[in-house]
Amino acid sequence: MRHFVYFSRHAQTSGNFDVHDLMRAGRMDIAIHSLIAGLFLSHDFRKDAIFHLVFYGQPDPPKHIEIQIKDETVISKKDVANLIKKVLYKYREGEKHEVFPGISVEKKSVMKLIEELEKEGNEIFILDKKGESLRKVKIPEDCAFVLGDQDGIPLKELKRLKKLMTPVSIGPKTYFASQTVAIVNNELDVRGI
Ligand SMILES: C[S@@+](CC[C@H](N)C(=O)[O-])C[C@H]1O[C@@H](n2cnc3c(N)ncnc32)[C@H](O)[C@@H]1O
Repeated sequence: MRHFVYFSRHAQTSGNFDVHDLMRAGRMDIAIHSLIAGLFLSHDFRKDAIFHLVFYGQPDPPKHIEIQIKDETVISKKDVANLIKKVLYKYREGEKHEVFPGISVEKKSVMKLIEELEKEGNEIFILDKKGESLRKVKIPEDCAFVLGDQDGIPLKELKRLKKLMTPVSIGPKTYFASQTVAIVNNELDVRGI
């Protein structure tokens, strides 16, 4: 299984945002584009990927939304914003609440999530322009890729994360977060991972 961990310092952590003004919800639009690149294919869904949204915006950070598309999961590319809204509204203190099949929300920090993914046997990579080339790095079947939003990963977190994982670069340019997810998915598909 491949995991993507999208980290955003500003994405809103309650459901009271306007779906017609996603930029003002801490660039929720970027989170949504990344999630679509992570889990959707043309006329199909990816069953080989789990997408994690980790939001540190106001009013109640941090929130971890996990989405794994299963046969029973109802999700539409056209309405991811409303789905995130509903999931954030349904957060329950002290538990990982599965709001819909395959879709849960809980309070969890990015470090804790990464520690858990590592304990589960995943090799963790951080998407970083200065890292080792994605095309050359060895990637196991159980892997997780951490990426930032429009502001990137804050320097303090980046330093801590880099100690725990391999930085990988997809090229010399700075890509949209969603583009990096599409490129990683493609690389793993081509390798048959
Ligand atoms: C739009 S970029 C962030 C731009 C931000 N100004 C920065 O310098 O980090 C969003 C995320 O995509 C990933 N990313 C962008 N370009 C990349 C590259 N060439 N190689 C690896 N990851 C990249 C990084 O994880 C980054 O946090």
